Order: sequence, then C-alpha cells, then structure tokens
Amino acid sequence: MDGSKRRGQPIRGLEGVVAAETSLSFVDADNGKLYYRGYDIDELAGRVCFEEAVHLLWTGSLPSRGCLEELRSELIADMRLPQQVYEMIRLAPPSADPMVVLRTAISALDLFDPDTGRNTEAANLRKGKRLLAQVATIVASLHQLRSGGAVRSADRSLDFAGNVLYMFLGREPEEFERSVFDTLLVLHADHGLAASTFAARVTVSTLAGMHSAICAGLANLNGPLHGGANRKVIEMLEEIGGPERVEAYIDGMLARGQRIMGFGHRIYKTQDPRSRYLRRFAEELPRREGREDLLAVSSRIESLVYERKGIYPNVDFYSATVQEALGIPKEYFTCIFAVARTAGWVAHVMEQFRDNRLIRPTSKYIGGFDKTFVPIGDRG
Ligand code: ACO
Repeated sequence: MDGSKRRGQPIRGLEGVVAAETSLSFVDADNGKLYYRGYDIDELAGRVCFEEAVHLLWTGSLPSRGCLEELRSELIADMRLPQQVYEMIRLAPPSADPMVVLRTAISALDLFDPDTGRNTEAANLRKGKRLLAQVATIVASLHQLRSGGAVRSADRSLDFAGNVLYMFLGREPEEFERSVFDTLLVLHADHGLAASTFAARVTVSTLAGMHSAICAGLANLNGPLHGGANRKVIEMLEEIGGPERVEAYIDGMLARGQRIMGFGHRIYKTQDPRSRYLRRFAEELPRREGREDLLAVSSRIESLVYERKGIYPNVDFYSATVQEALGIPKEYFTCIFAVARTAGWVAHVMEQFRDNRLIRPTSKYIGGFDKTFVPIGDRG
C-alpha cells in the first residue's frame, strides 16, 4: 500500500476547521460576542421579538412593521398539524423522550407537507415557516396531552412567543413571562456552525430535503454535550439541593473527571453573552415554591467552577433555571431550545442550498491492509 494514502492527521472534533461560509451568525470567541447578520446580540436582545430575529436570519434584514405582521400571521396560521401527526404524538409511549417524539413527528410531517421533494428557495421558505410553527405546536401539544390538559389552537391575538407559552402552559402568559421567553427564543435562534447546524447542513448537502435536515438537527441537539445539557443542569441542581452542598458535589465530580453540565464551550473562551441575559432573567423571575434554592445553588456553582477550572457557564446553564421558573417541566427544556434553533437550521439549510457542494470529508484509515481472504467454510 502506498504510504501517501495513510498520511494526514485527523483534527479531533474538527476543532478550528472552517467547514462553511455563512453570513448568518458569528461567534466571537475572544470577545464573548454573538452577531446575527452583523448585529451584536446586545443590540437585539430585549429589543426585537423572535419573529424579527427569524426575519433577520432568513432574509438578511430586520422587518418593517408590515413584514413583521405578515410573518407572524403566517407562522400562527401554520401552527396546525395534520390529524395523522397529531394522532402519532398522542400514541407515543408516555415514557418516550419528548425530543424523540418531536423528531419522529417532524419526520412524519414530511409525508404530508405539500412541498415535500421540492428544494427550491420558495419551497424551502414555505417549508421553513411551517416547520418552525409545527415544531412549537408539537412540543406544546405533547405536553398538554401528557399532562391531561386541553390541546390549544394558536391565538391570533398573541405573538409567536406568547402562543408557544399559551399552547404549552394552557394559559395566557403574564407579559413579563412572555417577554423573557421571547428573548430566550431570540438568544437560542442561531449560533454559527454548532454541531446540530453542521448536521443539518451536511444532510442537505446531499440534496436531501429540509425535513430531513431538521430531523438531523434535532437528533444532534438532544445529546447532553449540546442542547441536552439544559435538562442535565436542572437534575444536577436538584440533586445538590442547597448552596452548602455545592463544593463537595462539584469537587467530587471534577475528581472523578466528570463534566459539569452547562459549563464550557468549544468556541467561547470567555463569557457566553447569552448566559448573561439568562442569568438576569433567572434572578428576576419569581421562583416557584420549594424551588427558591435553585438560583443560589447555580450562583455558587458558577463561581466555584470558574475557580476550579477557569470555565464559564454556557447558554444551557441559566436557561435551565429560567425555563424552570416559567413552569416548563425539565423534560421539555431541550424541545424549547429546538423550537428556537429551528429558525437557525432553516436559515442554514437555505444558505447551503444556495451554494451547495456535497460535504464529504475524509478519514485517516487505521485498519489493516493486505489480509488474506478465508472462505466461510475454513474460518473455524
Ligand atoms: N466540566 C468540566 N471540565 C470541562 C468542561 C465541563 N463542563 N468543559 C470543558 N472542560 C475541561 C476539560 O476537562 C478539559 O480540561 P483539561 O484540558 O484539563 O483536560 C478542557 O476543559 C477542554 O475540554 P474539551 O473537551 O477539549 O472541550 P471541548 O471544546 O471539546 O468541549 C463541550 C466543549 C463539549 C461543550 C464541553 O465544554 C462540555 O462537555 N460541557 C458540558 C456539556 C455542556 O454544557 N454542553 C452544552 C454546550 S453549549 C451548547 O451546545 C448549546
């Protein structure tokens, strides 16, 4: 075997590899900044609603009032599910992970989508709107079905964030809850070439369709090293119980070489700008009865992990306490992340289609060569 074929060192985890060109979002690792289409997230957070962020990501510009109203009403109209998909959600085993139900339902939606098999820009935009709206409806309906509540239809008087909370919680949210949730969605909408976004882009680079890409994104996001971390965070906070137990717990984990969920990031080497907002919301939202200690435990973990490892909380750490305070059960935390990130995945899918080349890296082969074939009868 020619030695040249074995050369080339793999880059573990593709760290530092530039795998795509994008004009959608930029993660400034050194300065701890995030940009959507050139706007610093600090310019946008709390000043734009989720639909404005979606418009920005999908078209490159912030919408006029008229365009915003149009997008909002299209999204609300699209918050309906085919009866078969609704039935599928209803029949899912009660113990199934909501993210798995969501992924399966999105796969099923491909069977009924009027644009299935069409990958034009216009078809992708229509599919993107439907998917964003339907992801929200699936998550909300699943929770209502499982908790014995009534499945709600979207309410035209509410915006996207208000509708997600309304359909999910089964009651109209307070304005403060709605606005916190709206900003949480904005903060989660896109984040450069995150693992799930890369998975979505790889999927459509074969010219597979948008539903397949969103399924790939969902499957990828659910892992605890990515969006699945927010659920693990709340489990850790619950297990610790009180601030006085943080030190022993965290030191024990670090001594065993375990990862502290909600900390560290492949790109940011300083504070994650999203976590600043989420920490503030976690402090401002009223804590539910019996859950007052969660925030004190979180703050103590934050300072201790920085002391011990020099790493900061990522978006998942305080998103857990914010979602908990909003009354969202922990098994849905990653689904809520997915609602927001669908906006980013859709934008990346459209961008990938505009200038596609099959994404197909290579590997360093470390198996053997020149083995002698043994017929099945002689293999012992
Ligand atoms: N807890 C403890 N130590 C950590 C953590 C953590 N959460 N994150 C990184 N480190 C340490 C590693 O042990 C390593 O230390 P060492 O050099 O002394 O061995 C060093 O930091 C570098 O770690 P890597 O694994 O090389 O960092 P990588 O870039 O591969 O990991 C990741 C990034 C996966 C996010 C990691 O920080 C992690 O596992 N975090 C916990 C899971 C999590 O919160 N994921 C959500 C990320 S944000 C998002 O996806 C939305």
